[in-house]
Amino acid sequence: MNWREIYADRICSAEEAVGKIKSGDRVVVAHACGEPVVLTDAMTACAEKYGYKNVEIVHMVAMGKAGYCAPEMSEHFRHNALFLGGSTKAAIAEGRGDFTPVFFSEVPALLREKLHPNVALLQVSEPDEHGFCSYGVSCDYTKPAAEAADLRIAQINPKMPRIFGDNFIHVSNLDVIVEAETDLIELQPPKIGDVQRKIGENIASLVKDGDCLQLGIGAIPDAVLLFLKEKKDLGIHSEMFSDGVVELINAGVITNKCKQIGNGKCVATFLMGTKKLYDYANDNPSVELKPVDYVNDPYVIRQNDNVVSINSCVEVDLMGQVCSESVGLTQISGVGGQVDFVRGANMSKGGRTIMAMPSTAAKGTISKIVPFLTHGATVTTSRCDVDYVVTEHGIAQLRGNTLRERARQLIAIAEPAFREGLIAEFESRFHCAYTE
Ligand code: COA
Repeated sequence: MNWREIYADRICSAEEAVGKIKSGDRVVVAHACGEPVVLTDAMTACAEKYGYKNVEIVHMVAMGKAGYCAPEMSEHFRHNALFLGGSTKAAIAEGRGDFTPVFFSEVPALLREKLHPNVALLQVSEPDEHGFCSYGVSCDYTKPAAEAADLRIAQINPKMPRIFGDNFIHVSNLDVIVEAETDLIELQPPKIGDVQRKIGENIASLVKDGDCLQLGIGAIPDAVLLFLKEKKDLGIHSEMFSDGVVELINAGVITNKCKQIGNGKCVATFLMGTKKLYDYANDNPSVELKPVDYVNDPYVIRQNDNVVSINSCVEVDLMGQVCSESVGLTQISGVGGQVDFVRGANMSKGGRTIMAMPSTAAKGTISKIVPFLTHGATVTTSRCDVDYVVTEHGIAQLRGNTLRERARQLIAIAEPAFREGLIAEFESRFHCAYTE
């Protein structure tokens, strides 16, 4: 059979497709905006009909409804989260799901070696004339999961962009095909307040012409982009990027021409943004998505000079230990690619690592610079890996500095209302007076 015949032979409805899932299966769902919502919704809707028992659902960021996390679905599904989001947090907090800590770069190996997927739920573009479909906006662990799975069920969505890189699967490797044209999940640009603008301005002061950037998700990375308009020849080698990057490409600020690897191209492992971003990336040879065990590998990241990683965190203690994924014992996200990029940037010639956060949380009632991490909090980035910490009040540079100097600099960028308590801790810990 040629690929067109194979394609026609494997088409069925979403309801029929999810009927292939068996009790006890481990189902890996495509990441973030690549989630095949038609399939995840059908799987949840058909849980009773097919009598699923103990189906394990594995994924990172869930941007869909995550109906399988609902309390009434407990006997059918159990979520094993490699990263938490809004729709999955409650299931983990209430004990109806589990969390597995893992560096994003190591997720493909985890799926190949330990969490073998029985089923991969995918969403891909229409095939090209040679029968290749693009994984579109999510290559990350999605492609490795598909390659490791016993059964691949794919939503073929004409709206999924074709994005270059190592980001394709041949129709003959799709076991079950569901044709469904649906809008892709979008992430709208965040609101940027005064505090985020000030943080963005502080971070931008650390960025030089020719730097190669990694940007996390959210208001702070987007705020930085506002202050990079006067820079020249920036590059992107990032876990993901969003709409703000397109503006800087169009303004001629991002050219990727100083990169040692991926020269002339924005390289990432997934995209998260609006249709504007997806349209830009579609069929565009200057954008490449590759699997996360390549993009996030610190030894790949380091091959570019002047890598600057920009990430956010929950709290930082006076030694520079960074918690980015839990509030005390309550897991709120995951390590994601934070440590992958911190390590890669630290190893890059001329590289810099920036951890940025507002100085307070909970409407100014909690300092995010603390004497000790909250009881139960996770050390996401260790004190040996951390370098710049940025708040709206300034920049602390920690790497290579003593514990005493670290504490001094961190206190100087804490919210003034909390400095007195931090200074008292400094003076008792270091047996000397605090000076600015
Ligand atoms: N104490 C108590 N609560 C805190 C807190 C603190 N020190 N810091 C944050 N919070 C709360 C916030 O109030 C908010 O609560 P809410 O959801 O009830 O509003 C919640 O934690 C999330 O904080 P927020 O500042 O809104 O998060 P964010 O969207 O800016 O994301 C991280 C910040 C750290 C959670 C996020 O960057 C992350 O998950 N990082 C780890 C992964 C990573 O870096 N990936 C990068 C590669 S893309």
